[in-house]
Amino acid sequence: MGLLNVLTGKSLAIIGSGAMGSALALGLVQSGKVKPEQIVASDVDEHRLSQLRPLGIQTTADNKFAVRQSDVVLLCVKPQVMDEVLADIEPVVDPKRHCVISIAAGVPIFRIESALPEGTPVVRVMPNTPAQVLAGVSAIALGKNATEQHRQIAHEIFNSVGLTVDVPEKLIDAVTALSGSGPAYVFVFAEALADAGVNLGLPRNIALKLAAQTLLGAAKMLLETGKHPAELKDMVTSPGGTTIAALSVLERNAFRGAIMEAVSAAHQRAKELAKD
Ligand SMILES: NC(=O)c1ccc[n+]([C@@H]2O[C@H](COP(=O)([O-])OP(=O)(O)OC[C@H]3O[C@@H](n4cnc5c(N)ncnc54)[C@H](OP(=O)(O)O)[C@@H]3O)[C@@H](O)[C@H]2O)c1
Repeated sequence: MGLLNVLTGKSLAIIGSGAMGSALALGLVQSGKVKPEQIVASDVDEHRLSQLRPLGIQTTADNKFAVRQSDVVLLCVKPQVMDEVLADIEPVVDPKRHCVISIAAGVPIFRIESALPEGTPVVRVMPNTPAQVLAGVSAIALGKNATEQHRQIAHEIFNSVGLTVDVPEKLIDAVTALSGSGPAYVFVFAEALADAGVNLGLPRNIALKLAAQTLLGAAKMLLETGKHPAELKDMVTSPGGTTIAALSVLERNAFRGAIMEAVSAAHQRAKELAKD
């Protein structure tokens, strides 16, 4: 067990134990922030639950049971079933005890607040798929009843699967467009790099490894040095060298403009989906 933290002595319910719910269960247990006995995972799919049991956590098919057992309720179901799940757990949610954290894309905080008893603290989080390898990034937005303590609880939970940032809810769609959908942009870039390597005669598996580790290493340098990306770029760009030859082609093909437009398109779509 790790040092004392805001989760010490708290029980957590994970409602919906799919890709993201399972990643959170794994991250929390592996980080030692909570003991496995402090987590109860709920799902309609028994197979999902059976895969989580080796972690030593409790499992149930009964969402109400999970909520009654817990102080923090993590809603990790798909947006389409959110209304049904909220209606199911509403009778057992206690605003004085529970903190409800939702990761459902496009479901605004007010919709969750209005489906639960008056005064229930609600936190909305937008994680991304690298949470599954404990290298995610999650943006955290507070509802009107959530306090500093609830904010800390959300950070502690999502820190176990990567980094966390705070944003006001109005910026969650921007987060969705950047880091929520971001892994897909990066996979396309990685594939293109690897294809380029294959084109130059490298075996596919080696080209992919070179591409992936280059992305990982560059990202680590950005985070660990705190330097501006332009400064890091300049460090590998010698006068008249190979890198500037490549960069001038990227500029000619409006590489940055394409990325900015792509993220704007994702943002537009996130706003449309939230309205639906
Ligand atoms: N994956 C991501 O990168 C990501 C990023 C940001 C946000 N999110 C959000 O995270 C949420 C979960 O995504 P996911 O990828 O983890 O989805 P997922 O793998 O489909 O997991 C959802 C789980 O909830 C179960 N479920 C369905 N109805 C339920 C009910 N009434 N009570 C309890 N469990 C129920 C599903 O079972 P069945 O499959 O049998 O229906 C499934 O096992 C979504 O709202 C998504 O918007 C995900």
